[in-house]
Amino acid sequence: MSSETTSNPTYAPSAEMVSRAHISAAKYDEMYAASIADPDGFWGEHGKRIDWIKPFTKVKSTSFEPGKVDIKWFEDGTLNVAANCIDRHLETRGDQTAIIWEPDSPEDKALHITYKDLHRSVCKMANILEDLGVRKGDRVVIYLPMIPEAAYAMLACARIGAIHSIVFAGFSPDALAARINGCDAKVVITADYAPRGGRNTPLKSNADAALLHTKDSVKCLVVKRTGGQTTWVQDRDYDYNELAMEADDYSKPAEMNAEDPLFILYTSGSTGQPKGVVHCSGGYLVYAAMTQEYTFDYHEGDIYWCTADVGWVTGHSYIVYGPLANGATTLMFEGTPTYPDASRFWQVCEKHKVNQFYTAPTALRALMGQGNEYVEKCDLSDLRVLGTVGEPINPEAWNWYNDVVGGGRCPIVDTWWQTETGGHMMTPLPGAHATKPGSAMKPFFGVKAVVLDPHSGEEIDTYPTEGVLCIADSWPSQMRTVWGDHGRFEKTYFSDYKGYYFAGDGCRRDEDGDFWITGRVDDVINVSGHRMGTAEVESALVAHAAVAEAAVVGYPHDIKGQGIYCYVTLMNGVEPTDELYKELRTWVRTEIGPIASPDLIQWAPGLPKTRSGKIMRRILRKIAENDFGALGDTSTLAEPAVVDDLIENRMNKG
Ligand code: WT7
Repeated sequence: MSSETTSNPTYAPSAEMVSRAHISAAKYDEMYAASIADPDGFWGEHGKRIDWIKPFTKVKSTSFEPGKVDIKWFEDGTLNVAANCIDRHLETRGDQTAIIWEPDSPEDKALHITYKDLHRSVCKMANILEDLGVRKGDRVVIYLPMIPEAAYAMLACARIGAIHSIVFAGFSPDALAARINGCDAKVVITADYAPRGGRNTPLKSNADAALLHTKDSVKCLVVKRTGGQTTWVQDRDYDYNELAMEADDYSKPAEMNAEDPLFILYTSGSTGQPKGVVHCSGGYLVYAAMTQEYTFDYHEGDIYWCTADVGWVTGHSYIVYGPLANGATTLMFEGTPTYPDASRFWQVCEKHKVNQFYTAPTALRALMGQGNEYVEKCDLSDLRVLGTVGEPINPEAWNWYNDVVGGGRCPIVDTWWQTETGGHMMTPLPGAHATKPGSAMKPFFGVKAVVLDPHSGEEIDTYPTEGVLCIADSWPSQMRTVWGDHGRFEKTYFSDYKGYYFAGDGCRRDEDGDFWITGRVDDVINVSGHRMGTAEVESALVAHAAVAEAAVVGYPHDIKGQGIYCYVTLMNGVEPTDELYKELRTWVRTEIGPIASPDLIQWAPGLPKTRSGKIMRRILRKIAENDFGALGDTSTLAEPAVVDDLIENRMNKG
């Protein structure tokens, strides 16, 4: 139902949705107010949604004070995350499906893994890891495709108190080696091959290449996915399938403190190399579980599907930890939206009678372009709630999702959050809020979202307004530190606006006070919902012998949201050729991974710099956007002629 009460169309939930939802509009207002007025009281109560071995007596101990940033939640409580996600459900729903696994090819059989099955497999994996020498607090890198063993590995680490660090299977051997070394991992878990979209990535040989650049003591546990050929290094490589046959199927869950790290996940920032975001056990699990239930209005017996990869935070919180802590049935999909054709997502929804479906705008844009018949031939009548995440969703994609996929019946929850936040920070709740295409609407419980004036750093509490998005106080699943570098944590998130967590995003509040995320305000670009630091791509480019200098910016891209635009200055005497163009693209793919492939490279005889030598990215962004009229003040440039040259070249590219 659409109405034009404000300048934005709004879509109210149906009466049926409102009547069955956990959270009504009035309840949201009441709970939100309580969560802000008395965080200790509110979270003290909601902290009980998970099982504690030793109950906490303290709730919130947090400070955003410059130089003293310190975040602890439920700090004297103890628990085990895996026991919360598995063991506590055994009595009531041991035979219920915990994970539906849908393989890459629709020809292959889906698996239904019950909570009892999950318990057995996770215990075995935990024992295998212990046999390989992994102990409480040790790090384990997981480099796996979207197979059930990825979830087993995560939960096995949690069970024995090891800290996992998942590296997305699309990352290169170099990126994998950097992450193994970055956290000094003892074991890497990988698979022989990763089938995806009909292609087959040789994961084990990537891992072999990475392990050439790590300590000799790092062990490699290899899961058989396809049975394809791999090389084998004695006393370093271990066959998971063989070990699992012998391994004991019980492992006692370790008693962990709420603040013991659960995982590290590397993410890109505006400067330097990716940083290891650290999430801890108690607060993270409470928040992931609570948001999964309320944001998607999950009810007992529902089938829930998040299409992300466990290599990203979305997969951590909303495929594994949140849903399993709630005793849900969560679907894990190995494939891609367009293989074998553009109806794959919708066929999986039909086949498994999916009730909640959560995906990224980039996937929707790609599918929208293929035509409605791929959706319309599938029975999507079980869908109740649709979600999006990763980047701002454009109204065309939103409307298509709403009308064609949801048949106008399913509220769309546009969830704004980040690797650093652990869980949803802003989203409409399906039975509480009328939605607006492109708006993340309202903060979740306990989230004190504020808009600051970027220049003065003052809070703006009137609306409509626009500024930078900050969070004024801590929430339970906030990242605790950067692995091994607390100073970098403070500097990155708490130094631009003192006393606030600065997310790096700009935002707008409309005349109703609802939030619209406008995108990153730093040098981070968002390519197909994946975060990419322009500095990382630049350092990959300059590592090539032919490249003297490089500057990378984002530019609008129809499907990916943003594409990667590289300005490259070659070494003296090197000729820009088509071969070199191709070689540089391949080079970046091997240095970082396919997700960092440059979309466009422009040969730049010079880059616009200030007299002090700083590259003026503002100008480069405008040129990449083909927006030459708005270059702004170029008077501080050392050599203004460089800009004319770049514009001329850009125009030749069309
Ligand atoms: C950045 C975080 C959190 C899971 C996926 C990405 C952008 C994320 C939205 C949204 C507008 C969004 C932001 C944010 N972003 N969700 N619903 N609307 N922008 O996690 O890789 O840590 O990236 O993604 O710019 O800062 P991430």
